[in-house]
Amino acid sequence: MKPFEIKKGIYWVGVVDWNARNFHGHTYTIRRGTTYNAYLIVDEKIALVDTVLGSFAGELIESIRAVIPPEKIDYIIANHVETDHSGAMPDVLKLCPKARVFGTQKCKEGLYRMYYENWDFQAVKTGDKLKLGKRTLTFIEAPMIHWPDSMFTYCQEEELLMPNDAFGQHYATNQRFDDEVDACALMDEAVKYYANILWPLGSLIARKIEDVVKMNVPIKMIAPSHGIIWRKDPMKIINAYAGWANNTTSDKVVVVYETMWGATEKMAKSMVEGITDAGLEAKLYNIAQSDVTEVIKEMLGAKGYLVGSSTHDNGMLNAIAGFLEFLKGLRPKNRIASAFGSYGWSGGAVVSVENILKEAGIEVLQPSISVKYMPDEGELNKCYEHGMDFAKSVKSMV
Ligand code: FEO
Repeated sequence: MKPFEIKKGIYWVGVVDWNARNFHGHTYTIRRGTTYNAYLIVDEKIALVDTVLGSFAGELIESIRAVIPPEKIDYIIANHVETDHSGAMPDVLKLCPKARVFGTQKCKEGLYRMYYENWDFQAVKTGDKLKLGKRTLTFIEAPMIHWPDSMFTYCQEEELLMPNDAFGQHYATNQRFDDEVDACALMDEAVKYYANILWPLGSLIARKIEDVVKMNVPIKMIAPSHGIIWRKDPMKIINAYAGWANNTTSDKVVVVYETMWGATEKMAKSMVEGITDAGLEAKLYNIAQSDVTEVIKEMLGAKGYLVGSSTHDNGMLNAIAGFLEFLKGLRPKNRIASAFGSYGWSGGAVVSVENILKEAGIEVLQPSISVKYMPDEGELNKCYEHGMDFAKSVKSMV
């Protein structure tokens, strides 16, 4: 894509990765592709804010060259070490070897461990400023949002926040702004991104939002490092983050299970009937056939989880085990859950599910439900009632 002037003298020089389908290895399934956004600020001094994934270095350099010779870059702002933003930095710095790199001390250490280059690096702290000419950049450390090195860059004169990964979305499009794309698709990608990447960092995010509000910096535009730029109503995404970070949920139940011969699936469906008759929304997923990224997105907004597995070798099945391990890392707060499952002789899946839910910090309600071989009519009725009772517990949560 050609560079795009997002404000006078400030250019998006990122790349659109239309065909990306996985992110962070295979932990995040991307349905709409992604972008790696970099921003070129042309003033008396020229600054490049972040780069792109290394395999797109050529496109980035071509884009910069369409605005200025890359040799003229004075400063590179490294908001984040992760290679989707720093990967092209070695190639860019070969063209402008005298450019000084700015980032946090952790960024300096991280970039060295990534590339083993002794670049001219200036470590900065919150409130440090870099004057470019008419514009000044202010740096805001944002540790663990989402890596220890993470930083936001703010341009006061333009009221422009460049927060790197925060407020981003995996959304490939030839359009750059929130008012140009489908608003529902945009928020769907934004919530999915938060749920799968930032969920465990909610308390830090809530505090960082408070810090930025206290700094009293007006924000007219938020230009993240993935996806769409927020210019129509930047407060929309800030408020959404504040809600997610404060565990805003609805009276919804996600039922997620894996089944060997269909018994656990029958139990799950009866529970959904009970939840439905109790008047709550339910979502049902056989995790072995589902997009885990989508399921996690649904779980972010739900108060209750019913989790089931058939027993296999005294434990749970593989796909649900991997899924719960991922959920454990997200550390959901203020959620309740209950386990269920089928077995042939010894059992074991339900206890395994309960254990990992507890390790995740989720309150596990009793009793759980286990069924030998196939559930009969009476047992399916019990599952129905279990769904109803669980829905009542969800409704009574404050
Ligand atoms: Fe988009 Fe943390 O990298």
